[in-house]
Amino acid sequence: MNDKDRVVILAIESSCDETSAAVVVNGREVLSNVISSQIKIHKQFGGVVPEIASRKHIENIDRVVADALSEAGVTLKDIDAVAVTYGPGLVGALLVGVSYAKSLAFGLDLPLIPVHHIEGHIAANYIQYKELEPPFICLVVSGGHTNLVKINTYNDFDILGHTRDDAAGEAYDKVARSLGLPYPGGPKIDEISKEGNPDSVKFPRVMLEEGSYDFSFSGLKSAVLNHLNRCRLKGEEYREADIAASFQKAVIDVLTEKAVRACEEYGMSKLAACGGVSANFALRASLEEACGKKGIEFYVPRLILCTDNGAMIGSAAYYEYMAGCRGDMSLNAVPSLKLGERRY
Ligand code: KG4
Ligand code: ZN
Repeated sequence: MNDKDRVVILAIESSCDETSAAVVVNGREVLSNVISSQIKIHKQFGGVVPEIASRKHIENIDRVVADALSEAGVTLKDIDAVAVTYGPGLVGALLVGVSYAKSLAFGLDLPLIPVHHIEGHIAANYIQYKELEPPFICLVVSGGHTNLVKINTYNDFDILGHTRDDAAGEAYDKVARSLGLPYPGGPKIDEISKEGNPDSVKFPRVMLEEGSYDFSFSGLKSAVLNHLNRCRLKGEEYREADIAASFQKAVIDVLTEKAVRACEEYGMSKLAACGGVSANFALRASLEEACGKKGIEFYVPRLILCTDNGAMIGSAAYYEYMAGCRGDMSLNAVPSLKLGERRY
């Protein structure tokens, strides 16, 4: 029998190149978080190949779910709800998780909780910090998204700003490719930047209109590519670590400035970061330092909870479950699902 005060959720994530399943209790306690990464396969192609991602999810999902249950020391009988990422992401990849979760929920007669992938990233902070509660400002920096979000309650968000072109992670990956670094480029740039001089090249900091919380990284990306081409054409020597560190500094200066300004403008004493790019060493240090100076509490999940994982979906799902949100057998994948939107 399940205790009502204890909600055990089996969560499934398959929106991109990670097949993951987790068992999470009351949104905060992770009993297991199994992640099967396809990075090695996609690396050969320099990026995620959607068709291959879908096939690998199909091959992996059964085992990943079985491992998540056994690592958690539970069986399907102990589960109170099945949660799944239904967007945004790659349609074929999302469909694998959505179909699997629907069949489990139907077969076991359990509630089905559809989860927005970015709401999952935000919720990773609830796992890391058991005491963290809304309201707070959250900087979402992933491969597909860059947003500044005001988290009003667990289920209510205001988007203060978004990227007008490339997401931060996308810019990292593209700049890394131009430096000849393998996919995914973010972690590689992070690594080599530690040896570089961030002030060696002054790349543009695109702030946009005064007061805007939007971002634009494509101009910066082009500036890096132009700089590299110029050096190569003129036969000038350059250090990859210096270019990487200078590029990264330009991204981080903008992210830090806008995130801290949002906290001040909205009178928020808490700033959280999430998404793959929040694993970045220099970004974490910069946000931490800027928050420290302004008396703002800074939150960021441990590295494994920054990139895609099932536990974050299980955490977000708990708050959806408590708010009475339920999907049914008509649930579909929504590749371009907006933050705060429900499409079921
Ligand atoms: O959140 P995520 O795992 O997937 C999406 O939802 O998009 O983010 C993946 C992105 C990739 O662009 C990757 O290069 C970037 O996060 N990333 C990093 C780091 N680790 C992952 N970027 C900078 N520094 C890192 N350490
Ligand atoms: Zn993600």
